[in-house]
This record gives sequence, structure tokens and C-alpha cells, in this order.
Amino acid sequence: MAEQALVPDELETLEVHGDTAVGWDEHTPINETVDDEGKPFPGRPGFGVPDPRAPAARVYDHPDVEKLRAHLRANNGIRGLEICDPDEVERAARIFRRDGFVVVRDLLDAEHLELFRQGSARALRQLLEVPAPGKRKYVTESGRLPHRYSYGTASASRQMLHEEEWAAMVDLPTTSPILAEIFGSKDYLVLGAGGDLCLPGAVEYQHLHVDVGESNQVSAGRLQAAKDIGIEIQTVEGSDEPDLATRRRIVDFCPAVVTINFAMCDLTWENGPIRQIIGSHAWQMRPPPPADEPEWMRLSTLVGAPAGAGVIRDNRAWHGATPNLSREIRSLPNVEYGAPWLGSKHKQTMPHDIWETLTPHGKHLCRHIKADPGVWPPGAGVMHPLGGERRAAAKRMGGTGERRHGSPGG
Ligand SMILES: [Fe+2]
Repeated sequence: MAEQALVPDELETLEVHGDTAVGWDEHTPINETVDDEGKPFPGRPGFGVPDPRAPAARVYDHPDVEKLRAHLRANNGIRGLEICDPDEVERAARIFRRDGFVVVRDLLDAEHLELFRQGSARALRQLLEVPAPGKRKYVTESGRLPHRYSYGTASASRQMLHEEEWAAMVDLPTTSPILAEIFGSKDYLVLGAGGDLCLPGAVEYQHLHVDVGESNQVSAGRLQAAKDIGIEIQTVEGSDEPDLATRRRIVDFCPAVVTINFAMCDLTWENGPIRQIIGSHAWQMRPPPPADEPEWMRLSTLVGAPAGAGVIRDNRAWHGATPNLSREIRSLPNVEYGAPWLGSKHKQTMPHDIWETLTPHGKHLCRHIKADPGVWPPGAGVMHPLGGERRAAAKRMGGTGERRHGSPGG
């Protein structure tokens, strides 16, 4: 397997906003996925589901790409997408419950946006620097479509909370009031942090998926959360049991996991805006596979969300990444939050020293994922596109080296 010897110049100056020479690798075949060792593996189940409608070549001005670009220019994006201001806390929560997500502008001020851009660029550079086989520019992440990476799954600890840039986003004056409104309490949890990105030339659609399955259980804690957000509890006659309509409201409006993905650049019709299917957080069915996905779902994207905005999303809502036909990297790093009723057993991926830098509320949110003093989370600090390398690194650092799945981000 031939390997490139030098780090290309394009990586030295990599940024996650603005035009870049990164991406558009015509030598990476359409829909090619690789296994944990980096070998092409078309049959692997997971996040590398092929897009049967993808352009025939990963070339900026290929006729198929030009045709898709013209279609997206004319049609991409949710019509009338509502974008809240950060102080519209109740409105944001109302839209979140109705649609399964809400876009809020200016969640990051200029300083936090710049900080998160720097962290995102540094982590991405680590992934793209790994020498690629043949004439390819980059190693594709195991089990994903080409030119698409997840900060979370590409980290050998499965999370990014050992990085100061991600840790600095867990408690912001803009996000915490909205999260408290959604959860009905200030005792929600930080579960992890990661996010997703696509390089220019990620011409395939990622399949629609949910990040978290739903047990539909109404525990005592969840029932309390429902009361805290104002759901009126009606019971079955002669019983303390909530009736069916009430149980449905409890399950629909009290999600276990809520993620905020932060936009590092403006999301445009061309640069791979995330797509969200309105109302799907409450649907008891699986999303359609790519061959069956209707065109309106492929176009149901968050075009118009500006840099510094975030999409606050119920992790049950159907979503997926879309083609990036631009010259700009589309990066959406995230923080993942859990309901207070999720309990205390979570992977401890935030080093104690990082936890010490947080606000008092931030420390409270991270109470269950903080490592003990002197304990470095296994795998933290190692970024690699291949699952085999990540497991080996985590094992070397005292972890179990277990196989991990999951899909943060888009
Ligand atoms: Fe996802």
C-alpha cells in the first residue's frame, strides 16, 4: 500500500470556514467505505450507506455535479425556516418541541466562534494528515462515506471533552437558559461532545438516521420532567396511570438526549447543510433508506443558519448530512446533553483539570462524565480515521479497546 510522504500545504493552512483547497479528491471512489483497517468494504453495515443518486465522479465541474448544484441552488432549504434569537427562550423551546429541532442564531459570540473554529481545524488536520493509500488524498473514516468525519467517533475516547475548545462550550449564557427550558430543570447533564463535518466534494447524501433510539418508558423522573415543563397529567379513570394521550406527550416532549451543533460557517445551499425532518422526533418508525427517500426530505435542510448559530436537536429526530459541492469545509462541532432522569452512569471522558476550568454550572452539568484527579480518559487526545487504530490507542492508554458505535453530529 503506497503512502504519501509529505503533509500537503493545504493542511498547513486549513480552516473550517472560507474557501480551501482541501477536499474534492477525485481518486476517492463514489460511495466507497472502508473497514476498521482501512480496506474498502462495500458491505459493511453502519454509517457508510451508499447514495444511489450520487454524481458519478468527485470532480467540482463534472456534469453530474453541475446538475446537482443547479438543483440545489434552486431548491435547497426549508421554506420559511424560523431562526430564533438567543433571548427568545420560550419560543425556541416551543419550536423545539413541535419540530424536533430549532435553529438559534448567535449562540456563539465572536470570541467563542473563533475558539471553536481553531479547535475544529486542529482536530480535522489530525485526521487528514494520516497518509492515504494509492492516489487518495485522505483516509476515509471507518464506516462512513468519503469526505465525512465525526469528531466524536474519530476520537479514540469517543468524545472531545478533553479539548478545551469543546469544554468551553458546555455552559454558555446563550445556551443554558434554553436547555433548562427544554429539560424543565437546571439539573440536566453533559454526556459528551463531538460533532460532524464534511469536506468539499462530499457529493453523496448521508442516509437519514436517528442518533438515539427511544425506549418510550415513562419513569418517575421523566414524569416529573413532564410536570416541570407544564404537561397536564391526565390519568386513566380509577388509576394513577397517565392516559395514552398524556403518555404520548410525555414521551414526545421529554427527550432523553438533546444535542447542540454549532455552525462554524454560514450554512448555504451548496456547502452541505444538515437536513432535519420536521416532527420526526415523535414518529414510531424507521427513516426511509436512501433509495426510498423522497426529494422533499433531501431538500429539508437548514440553509440560512449563520456562523455562530446552533441547531438544538432532539436526537430522535431524523436527520442526515447533505452534499458539499462548495469550496468550503462545513463543520458542526457539538455538545450532547442528557435529561436529569438519565442517571449517573456515563463514560468519564472529561479530565479533571479541564473540569476545573468550568463555571460552577458547567461543573454541575459535567458531574457524571468527569474523570477522577490524575486519571486521563483512555484514548483522549488520539484522533484517527480508522477504528482499529483508535481501539489500539485506547487500549494502550488503559481502556478496554472495545468496539464503539454511534453517530454524533449530522
Ligand atoms: Fe447523526
